[in-house]
Amino acid sequence: MEELSSKTTMGDIVHAKAPDVDIHPEECLGAFESDPFTIVIMGATGDLTARKLVPALFNLYLNKGLPKFFQIVGCGRTKLDDQQFRKKMEHALEPAHRQNRSEWLMFQDAIHYFPVDYEDLDSYIHLAEVLKHLDQKHHTQGNRIFYLALPPSLYQTVAQTIGQAKLAKERDNHNGWSRIVVEKPFGRDLKTAVDLDQSIRKFFKEHQIFRIDHYLAKETVQNILMFRFANSIFEPIWNRRYIDHVTITAIETLGVEHRAGYYEQAGVIRDMFQNHMMQLLALTAMEPPSLFEANQVRDEKTKIFRSLRPFPVENLHDYLVLGQYGAGTKDGNQVPAYRDEPNVSAESLTPTFATMKVFIDNWRWQNVPFFLTSGKRLAQKRTEIAIQFKEVPHSIFRQTLGKTIIANRLTLGIYPDEKVTLTFQTKRPGAKVCLRPVTMDFYYNQHYSGPILDAYEKVLIDCMLGDQMLFWRQDGVEHSWSFLTPILEGCENCHNRKEMLHIYDAGSWGPSL
Ligand code: BG6
Repeated sequence: MEELSSKTTMGDIVHAKAPDVDIHPEECLGAFESDPFTIVIMGATGDLTARKLVPALFNLYLNKGLPKFFQIVGCGRTKLDDQQFRKKMEHALEPAHRQNRSEWLMFQDAIHYFPVDYEDLDSYIHLAEVLKHLDQKHHTQGNRIFYLALPPSLYQTVAQTIGQAKLAKERDNHNGWSRIVVEKPFGRDLKTAVDLDQSIRKFFKEHQIFRIDHYLAKETVQNILMFRFANSIFEPIWNRRYIDHVTITAIETLGVEHRAGYYEQAGVIRDMFQNHMMQLLALTAMEPPSLFEANQVRDEKTKIFRSLRPFPVENLHDYLVLGQYGAGTKDGNQVPAYRDEPNVSAESLTPTFATMKVFIDNWRWQNVPFFLTSGKRLAQKRTEIAIQFKEVPHSIFRQTLGKTIIANRLTLGIYPDEKVTLTFQTKRPGAKVCLRPVTMDFYYNQHYSGPILDAYEKVLIDCMLGDQMLFWRQDGVEHSWSFLTPILEGCENCHNRKEMLHIYDAGSWGPSL
């Protein structure tokens, strides 16, 4: 043990407190200096722009998170002028934001609208002229973010036409950069993911492509690596010797809502597993990179995807449970079955629930099962990772307690409880030898009262800075699909597809087997 410094007093030791207590919140918000830029939102009349992107940009503006010079250009098929688009965006603001009316009026000056025909190169050539004009007038220096807030079927066409209009070209002197932001799904299987990437890469290089996974931008998800690698006490036991199994859960109460068109084609495996669940798995299981740097972190995640043990497709039911919600209740109200939702086929076999047992074939995790569960219309909205440790190897209390001792459990709560909890055994007060399991909690917002960045704010900041840490790299996407595509094919083409799909009541905990 290191010797105490001669200056350390007993008072220092007694009053030692967590060092974060004295950090001023603003210090960690980010002293980022982004280049001036123009963000071009393709699909600007859609839901994502009004609900997430413009509010996130406005919030950054309010919190001084945008550079002095920035412009926002919404593009869509609908014919609107700047004023109409600004009004539409203002209407969609949350009541809390609407109170900042004078700031909004200043902010909206930077918002423009330009109607495009997505398939028509001339539209983009015209857009390029508009952008050039904005650069000259508003000092945005030719830096552009193209945000594809579009149906995935348009990604390839739009990315390529942006390229053909020479808008993907970057100048060498670090000014005049061009970045493209793509929302999931990145394809619907390995082949389509590769095709999509090839189309985008005809004009954009990997450092220009930002593939979003909004889970990675959640504070509590980012915390997983800090928790694991900024503390020395967890890593030595973070392996198959001490861990019995891991459960990763992302369940929700929402149904398919108005997204049947997409969801009927996707189902829960494409919607949640190929992206969010795989990222949570990688963050839990990866080795420490030597430096917290985008490519090194993504290298380690990719190693996890490459080490996933392929599913025995002939034996799928031992590793995979699929379900679909039937009618039931939510908050005391009757809700329809998935098949009765608008635009869902009455015979739909699309899964809205899945549990998978996954193994990682490497030294650290050999034979430790990871149980991944996600589903819609369940009893609770909850996202968490639980590390279940092994039982004590030998109980010295067996004569008095006569039963197994409950093993330790560490839970990384992501939603709604943003907290870390550790359960362990203690003595129950009294003369008799009795154990009592207790829980030690750390709430993520403890001792913190500053503003919290919404996931989309974080994503936008990172795009402005060119930091790809929280974005998928193409090799990761492909390895993740390599693992899941045989499963999807195994389910979708199997003769007993109908029998494999267990109907569960809406508002329940999923299929009971
Ligand atoms: C999205 C899925 O990516 O994530 C949705 O498409 C799902 O179906 C959502 O509801 C869940 O995200 P969150 O942040 O609410 O857990």
